[in-house]
Amino acid sequence: MSLSNLLTHHRGNTLFLPAHGRGNALPMEIKALLKRKPGLWDLPELPDIGGPTFLDGAVAKSQEESALTVGAKKGWYGVNGATGLLQASILAIARPKESVLMPRNIHRSVIQACILGDINPVLFDLPFLIDRGHYLPPDFDWFKTVLERLEVEKVEISAVVLSNPTYQGYSSDLKPLIDLIHKKGWPVLVDEAHGAHFATCIGDALPKSALHAGADLVVHSLHKSSLGLVQTAVLWWQGNLIDPEILERSIVLLQTTSPSALLMASCEAAVNELHSPLGKKKLKELLNDSKQLSSSLIAAGLPILENQDPLRLVLHTSSFGICGLDADKWFIDKGIIAELPEPGTITFCLGFSRHRGLVRTLKRRWSQLLSSDISINFNPPFKKPPFPFVSTPEKSCFSAFRSKSKIIPLQESVGKISSDLISPYPPGIPIILPGEKLDKRRVDWMMEQQNFWSDQIPTEIKVVA
Ligand SMILES: Cc1ncc(COP(=O)(O)O)c(C=O)c1O
Repeated sequence: MSLSNLLTHHRGNTLFLPAHGRGNALPMEIKALLKRKPGLWDLPELPDIGGPTFLDGAVAKSQEESALTVGAKKGWYGVNGATGLLQASILAIARPKESVLMPRNIHRSVIQACILGDINPVLFDLPFLIDRGHYLPPDFDWFKTVLERLEVEKVEISAVVLSNPTYQGYSSDLKPLIDLIHKKGWPVLVDEAHGAHFATCIGDALPKSALHAGADLVVHSLHKSSLGLVQTAVLWWQGNLIDPEILERSIVLLQTTSPSALLMASCEAAVNELHSPLGKKKLKELLNDSKQLSSSLIAAGLPILENQDPLRLVLHTSSFGICGLDADKWFIDKGIIAELPEPGTITFCLGFSRHRGLVRTLKRRWSQLLSSDISINFNPPFKKPPFPFVSTPEKSCFSAFRSKSKIIPLQESVGKISSDLISPYPPGIPIILPGEKLDKRRVDWMMEQQNFWSDQIPTEIKVVA
């Protein structure tokens, strides 16, 4: 079957990304555009349209208006997801050989930018929930201890990256962390790929956006947490710690020379619609519906975990002895496709479309799952990953990635330096970076992870020769 035919297949309940739910929640403007003569809208950077880094043209004007809407000084639309804009931001906030502090659950795109720019990631560990195998974002005390440790160990950094919320919708109050970072004079970039909707400021129903907590740079993935088509994203800039010209040069470095006008129109429409009075009203209703959905499922005995984003519904399968990956396969057979299956949980992304009858469907399917022949001997607790509290790769990511390497069995890799970036996807969180030394605890832990994610954790690893 051709790829084109495959795209139109029915795919059951759309509890996966993009968040527009197979078109249901696309902005009216984009729906209308896509109904026009096919291909009419498929345009590159024509003079009147321009592109994200053009001084003039419709895109420049639209970016200006969007920045005003969200309260940023400037914004750039992206056509290569949050990935492209995070990478451009990293290249702009640090020079080669400089170090950037970031959490252990950082998305792999940030590490890839460190490889590209020969920048050293300084990684800090995070609170870890052993009952489900999830990281939590750091709170103020945790982060303060991280900065104290940097001081004791005399680690110098040039900037900080935070990632909030997590894929599963956990979020912490960023304002005190950002204030602390600014007191030290460092700029802060927040990967808010999963929290574009936080910037709507609709009261207490959602956490505060990093944008309103004072971050210098914030990246939103518009297809993950707004109404954009796949690959759409936006980078917001404010404050006076980062030179916007360097940002633009970094964007130009990584961006295609033919950004799709359709995707840029989708960026504009996503920001406009989500922040319009009607968009906010719809979002409030959706958040209420999602909270009710969660409460009804909990009342019916389903193990739904608490988080800070009602649009992410996390089913704690391992609390019933069921591996999330097995449960996910079973659900897919029944037409329920989740976004993020993990060993301990399944995360459903409710997105921005309505899900009629979902409570009934999930209750019925959960009870069928429990009485099915699925294995129920999956017994966490999950072991906390054995990462040091603060660590820097032994060798620079750049040189380890480019060094002569050889492939060896994972169990024979103790003492070697990894040349590989290994990160199960989703969620895309690296478990080993190029340049990190494989000690016995890490190798034992990675081998144990093979029991949980056999197709995601390789049995061999590329190490520096
Ligand atoms: C936390 C986080 N940041 C960034 C990204 C990259 O987003 P995109 O797919 O828009 O490139 C992801 C993707 O999974 C993510 O989970």
